[in-house]
Amino acid sequence: MERSKKPSAIPVSPTIPTPQVSISEDNSRVTASLPTGESVEVLLFGATVLSWKTAKGKENMFVSDKAILDGSKAVRGGIPLVFPNFGPSSNKATEGLPQHGFARTAKWEYLGKSSSESSTLPNSSGDSSVKLDFGLSNTMLEKIPSEWKNYQFGITYSVTLGKDDLETSLAIRNTGEKDFEFQTLLHSYWAIDNISNVSVSGLEKVSFADKVGGGKKEESEAITVSSEVDRVYHVDPSQEIAIFEKDKPRFEFTRDMLPDVVVWNPWIEKSKTMSDLGPEDAYKRFICVETGSVRWNTLEAGDTWEGGQRIKAL
Ligand code: BG6
Repeated sequence: MERSKKPSAIPVSPTIPTPQVSISEDNSRVTASLPTGESVEVLLFGATVLSWKTAKGKENMFVSDKAILDGSKAVRGGIPLVFPNFGPSSNKATEGLPQHGFARTAKWEYLGKSSSESSTLPNSSGDSSVKLDFGLSNTMLEKIPSEWKNYQFGITYSVTLGKDDLETSLAIRNTGEKDFEFQTLLHSYWAIDNISNVSVSGLEKVSFADKVGGGKKEESEAITVSSEVDRVYHVDPSQEIAIFEKDKPRFEFTRDMLPDVVVWNPWIEKSKTMSDLGPEDAYKRFICVETGSVRWNTLEAGDTWEGGQRIKAL
C-alpha cells in the first residue's frame, strides 16, 4: 500500500574527510596527515618527530643526511627528547647516563590517536587536528646505568598536528615512592634555507649562559649566527620567541611551563667533528631553538609535571 505521508529518504551525508594515521610495516614510525595535506612523522626510537610538513609539502624539520635512525644514537635532526639530564651527567643521580639522557634513544610505545579536544594550549586549531600519544616508562628501558634504577616513571609525549601548527607536550609522572630530579628539553632542529639570513627574536636583553665563550651575557639585538652559538636562556614562558628568515617570520613559539630556551648552531668547525651531520654545509640548513626546563625539577612521588610547546609555521 502506498503511504501518503511516507517519510522521504534520509540523505546519505558525504563522507567527511578525517585525519589519517598509519604505522610503518616494520613498526618503527607513525605518520599522521590531515585532509588538508599537512603531515607529521614520528620515529619510535626517541619518539623523535622526523618530519613536519605544511599542506604545500614544505618541510619544517631539518634531519641530517647522515642521521642514524636505528636507536643506536640520537637522531641528528627532528625533535629528539632530552630527559632526564641536559648535557653530560652532572650529579650523582645521572652518573653514567649518556649526554642528554636516555629518552632520545629509547624505544617508545605508540599509545594511539585522538581528536584535538584534548589540546591544552590556548588558540589551538580546533577540530582539524590529530593528536598522537607515545609512552615511555622505566620498565621499558633495557638498562639504566645509574641511580635511576631506583626511580619509577611514566612519560606520555603528545604530538598534535594542526592546520598550521604543531604541539609537542610532555607529562612526566613519578610512579614510584622516591622523589627524583630531572631536566628536559625539546631539542628541535628547525629547517631554514640559509643560516646567514636567520634571526631569533624574543631573547633580546635576556641574560644567557654562554656555553661557547663561558659566563653570563646579554645582547640587545635579535640573535644572528655567524659562528658557533650554544646558549641557555631562562625566560618567562609568556615571552613569545620567533625565528625570522630574511626578516619574515618563519616559526613562532608558544611555551607552556617551559621556562628555558637553548639556541644552538655548531657552525663550521664543530660540524666537522660530528660524524652524523651531513652534508658538509648542513649547519647552514638548521637552527636549534629548544624549549624546555633545564633547571633541576624535583618530582615528588606520585606527582606529574607537564610542559609543552606550540610552533606555528609561517
Ligand atoms: C645542545 C647543547 O642542546 O645540544 C649543545 O646545548 C650540544 O651543547 C647540542 O652540543 C648537541 O648535542 P648532541 O649530544 O646531540 O650532539
